[in-house]
Amino acid sequence: MIVLGIESSCDETAAAVVRDGRVLLSNVIASQIKEHSKYGGVVPEIASRRHMEAIIPVILQALDDSGMELSDIEGIAVTRGPGLVGSLLVGLSVAKALAFSRKLPWVGVNHLEAHIASVFLSQNVPRFPFVALVVSGGHTNIYFVENFGVFAILGQTRDDAAGEAFDKAAKLLDIGYPGGMIIDRLAREGDRTLLSFPRAMRDSLDFSFSGVKTSLVVHVKKHGKPSTREELAHLAAGYQEAIVDVLVEKTLKAAELKSVSQIVVCGGVASNSRLREHFADRTAECGMDLFVPPPILCTDNAAMVAVVGNNLLGRGITDEFSLNAVSRWPL
Ligand code: KG4
Ligand code: ZN
Repeated sequence: MIVLGIESSCDETAAAVVRDGRVLLSNVIASQIKEHSKYGGVVPEIASRRHMEAIIPVILQALDDSGMELSDIEGIAVTRGPGLVGSLLVGLSVAKALAFSRKLPWVGVNHLEAHIASVFLSQNVPRFPFVALVVSGGHTNIYFVENFGVFAILGQTRDDAAGEAFDKAAKLLDIGYPGGMIIDRLAREGDRTLLSFPRAMRDSLDFSFSGVKTSLVVHVKKHGKPSTREELAHLAAGYQEAIVDVLVEKTLKAAELKSVSQIVVCGGVASNSRLREHFADRTAECGMDLFVPPPILCTDNAAMVAVVGNNLLGRGITDEFSLNAVSRWPL
């Protein structure tokens, strides 16, 4: 089945065409980062308005890149939540309009399930069951995944998401938005062993990142903001290492607990180079298999939405035109 995926849950307007839930024919992402960076975070009303401007051009580009006409599309999948409601409504309305006018089956998709499903667009795919870490700007969750749509949550954050911990640190240090990629780049020049930050809740599969953030605030109050790039790089490397360390160790612990040897890591923070490296080292040490999508499929995209949609539509699951967006939608 050829599925058009549509994603507009936060600050990326995205559309993709995917064949049979496995073959990526096109993947278009219009990022609004520049617009929001001057505010140090996503401004919901601006996000909705930019989606409204971008959504049709992005869909047309995705069709064009895939070499498909709208008449070749056999189903539509759209992110229904969780996310910013005003943003979600733009994608959802366009998906309904297209499905209505073309008489196509369509379905609303959970954004977190879509992040996990992004792994099926790679050559090498995991077998069910596996443990998945979904780590993004809004979520830090560990799941036991038995099949499409069959999840058990094993751990989640009690406060900030890991991506938030990166973004808030970057804001505090005045180095730009979004912070994850900036800290990732800086940290490569630094020594991760010079400054140590706290690792919270070691005995639990739940996460807490407010302590590491507070510890950075205290460090900056005591020593001031770093005055050289070198100092900044050491600080970024030490801070990043504390976050990466708990993400890796808790996910491995969850896999051991569930006696599975396959680990999936996905979501925006999964594009972090140190996280990928540390996961690769530790899973190799433990004899586990690691599956991490390429960075372009870790951050928000519509291809992952099309993968879930392909599975749901393939099982005859479709939605009513009365379907609404939801800001919260736990798996
Ligand atoms: O999945 P995503 O694109 O959107 C959400 O669903 O939240 O994730 C965005 C988050 C942001 O917090 C961003 O700072 C973080 O992913 N991020 C990174 C990196 N690239 C993006 N965090 C750490 N290292 C990166 N390289
Ligand atoms: Zn996301």
